[in-house]
Amino acid sequence: MHHFQYQDGRLCAEDVPLEKIAKEVGTPCYVYSHATLSHHFKVFDGAFDEVPHLTCYSVKACSNIAIIRLFAKMGGGVDIVSGGELFRALKAGVPSQKIVFSGVGKTKEEMRMALKVGILMFNVESEAELFALNQVAKEMNKIAPIALRVNPDVDPKTHPYISTGLKKNKFGIDISIAKQLYLKANELSNINVIGIDCHIGSQLTTLSPFLDALERVKRLYKELVAKGLDLKYLDLGGGLGIPYHEEEPPHPTEYAKAIMEAAKDLHCTLIFEPGRVIVGNAGILLTKVLYLKQNQEKNFVIVDAAMNDLARPSLYDAYHEIFPVKKEARDTFVADVVGPICESGDFLAKDRKMPKVEAGELLAVMSAGAYGFSMSSNYNSRPRAAEVLVKGDEYFIIRERESYEDLVKLEKIPAWME
Ligand code: LLP
Repeated sequence: MHHFQYQDGRLCAEDVPLEKIAKEVGTPCYVYSHATLSHHFKVFDGAFDEVPHLTCYSVKACSNIAIIRLFAKMGGGVDIVSGGELFRALKAGVPSQKIVFSGVGKTKEEMRMALKVGILMFNVESEAELFALNQVAKEMNKIAPIALRVNPDVDPKTHPYISTGLKKNKFGIDISIAKQLYLKANELSNINVIGIDCHIGSQLTTLSPFLDALERVKRLYKELVAKGLDLKYLDLGGGLGIPYHEEEPPHPTEYAKAIMEAAKDLHCTLIFEPGRVIVGNAGILLTKVLYLKQNQEKNFVIVDAAMNDLARPSLYDAYHEIFPVKKEARDTFVADVVGPICESGDFLAKDRKMPKVEAGELLAVMSAGAYGFSMSSNYNSRPRAAEVLVKGDEYFIIRERESYEDLVKLEKIPAWME
């Protein structure tokens, strides 16, 4: 359920007409709905109410500090993958004891930052990283709490670029050697083994890969407990999919029911790292039609948003619904919706059957809340879009549109060129 609906023929975010936001903030612009964000968080987190758990929102999905703050205020923790995300989480007010740190390439500097503030745990992804962390912790006279991220070799049946739990992927530690590494980790002076972690991919639309992975991880969990390890946390990562088009992913309550049933014989706190399922359908990208163009083959709708604003269609061939903000009876046509960037891969939709739109009108690119702004760039020297949070009949700019000055702010002309 989301709060982007037509009211009197005009698409609104909650009770704010998108036309008003476009007029006052400009386009392209990301618009998020507070009611949708909080509802999604509550539904996911609440689905696990019966068991000890912590919902650690995956910051990479949408990293604005106002959005992180919103979930922190609802009791959420965060999953981070960089020093930058740690900085954001702390700035947003996330308690350090609710932060889990994932990622295959944590630098020593990032480890130091996280050890200094005392995060809940590091999800360690290789033997080399484990030894590096032990070393850094030793130098700081700290103990690093860890889980190993195991790779259960399960096919998540999603796009290859966003599947992570297969042997051929770079992520995690092969489950067949994880036990030995756990025992090694347990001997290290400045490491405290407290959990097991696994994340198999993103935009999963069926439960079975989650349950297959959990079965494998459970086996390991039990073996380790039998060896005397005190495992307090089982982190099952994120990955639950959302409907973009015709997908019918399981509802979070269905997911929770199945996981809780499968994990009921484990005596630990469950951790989840949802990203997309919380923010994906809580945000749209608002854009304006600049021109219509036709050649012998195709119709093109040229808009002011581009692949630098929303990379998913170009990168994964992802499907995002596109709706005109003004709803009226009109003919349809088949068109490519494209941006102004000088790449043929710059499109938001291909061969899309859509209402015959006109130059100057506004379009909403739906389901853009996750991996939208957070993956945007300045390619073609395009200032990044503004981000707006709507709450009821009010809206708040939570990130200003970048200026041309911002584009060159960090650049320098060497003195010898002057
Ligand atoms: N935990 C870990 C360790 C992750 O790597 C990810 C996502 C998540 C949690 C959150 O997954 P989610 O619940 O959002 O599926 N840019 C791609 C998605 C990349 C996902 C990366 N990892 C896209 O736009 O589809």
